[in-house]
Amino acid sequence: MLEQKRIIITGAGSGIGRATSKLAAGYGAHVVCVDLTDGVEETVTEITQAGGTAIAVQADVSDETSVISFVEKCVSEFGGIDGIYANAGVSGGGKSVTELTVEDWHRTLGVNTIGVFLAVKHTVPHFVKQGGGAIVCTASVAALRANAGGVDYSASKAGVVSIVQTTAYQTYGSGVRINAICPGLIETGMTKPTFDLAREKGKEEKIGQINPTKRFGEPSEIGEMACFLLSDRASYVNGQAVPVDGGLSASHPWVFPRK
Ligand SMILES: NC(=O)c1ccc[n+]([C@@H]2O[C@H](COP(=O)([O-])OP(=O)(O)OC[C@H]3O[C@@H](n4cnc5c(N)ncnc54)[C@H](O)[C@@H]3O)[C@@H](O)[C@H]2O)c1
Repeated sequence: MLEQKRIIITGAGSGIGRATSKLAAGYGAHVVCVDLTDGVEETVTEITQAGGTAIAVQADVSDETSVISFVEKCVSEFGGIDGIYANAGVSGGGKSVTELTVEDWHRTLGVNTIGVFLAVKHTVPHFVKQGGGAIVCTASVAALRANAGGVDYSASKAGVVSIVQTTAYQTYGSGVRINAICPGLIETGMTKPTFDLAREKGKEEKIGQINPTKRFGEPSEIGEMACFLLSDRASYVNGQAVPVDGGLSASHPWVFPRK
C-alpha cells in the first residue's frame, strides 16, 4: 500500500505513532520516525529487525528549526518526501477551565496545534513542487464534542481540524491531500493513567463500554486508517476529519442499556 513512499511520522516513540510506523514500514514505506524521547530508537530497531526501512530522529515538533531539519533529513536520507503523519501530541493534563494557566495553554497548543502547523508549513512546498503528497494529522474526538479532554486539549484538536480544512483549500489543485483522524479512546502512553486507575479499581471491563463497538481501541486501528490516508488508495479523500472511535461520536447522549 505504501511501497517506496517516503514518510515522516511524529510521536513515533510510543502508542499510535509507533504502531503506525511499524505498519507503514510493513506496507513498504521508508519511514523517518520522530519523537521527543528515545523511545523512537526502539521503534526503529523493531522495524529494521522485521526487515523494514526506518531512521530515528529525536526532535521537538513545536520547534520550527527542528521541524525544518527532520523534513530535510527525510529528503537527504530517502531522496524526497511523499507524506507526513503529524501525530505527536500531549494531553494537557485534563485540568478544569478555572485551573488552567496561560502557560498550560501555550504548552498544549504549542505541541498539538503549532506542531501540526509547522509540519504542514514545511512539507507543503515539497509536495507542491512534486505535484502531490499526503498529510495526515491526529486530531481527536475531543475536537468534535465535549467530554474527551480539557478545554485546552479540545481546542488544540479543533484547531487541527481547522488547519486540515483550510489547508485543503489553500493547496487547491496542487495534488496535496490533507486529512485528520479523530481517535476515540485508545490504549497508549497518553491514556495509561486512565487504564491504570480503572484496573486498580477492578473496573477494566467498563472501559470503552459507551461506544457501540463496546470496547476501547488499539493503536494499530488508528495506524491502519493513517496508512490508508497516506496512500494513493485514498486519492479522493481530502480535507476531512475522520473519526475512528468505535462509533462513539455518532450518537446524541443516550441511556446505557440495562440488562
Ligand atoms: N490515546 C488516545 O485515546 C487518543 C485519543 C485521541 C487522540 N489522541 C492523539 O493521538 C496522538 C498520539 O498519542 P498517543 O495516544 O499515541 O500517546 P503517546 O503518549 O503514547 O504518544 C505520543 C508521543 O508523542 C511524543 N511527543 C509529545 N510531545 C512531543 C514533541 N513536542 N515533539 C515530539 N514528540 C512529542 C511523546 O514523546 C510520545 O511518544 C496525540 O496527538 C494524541 O493527542 C490519542
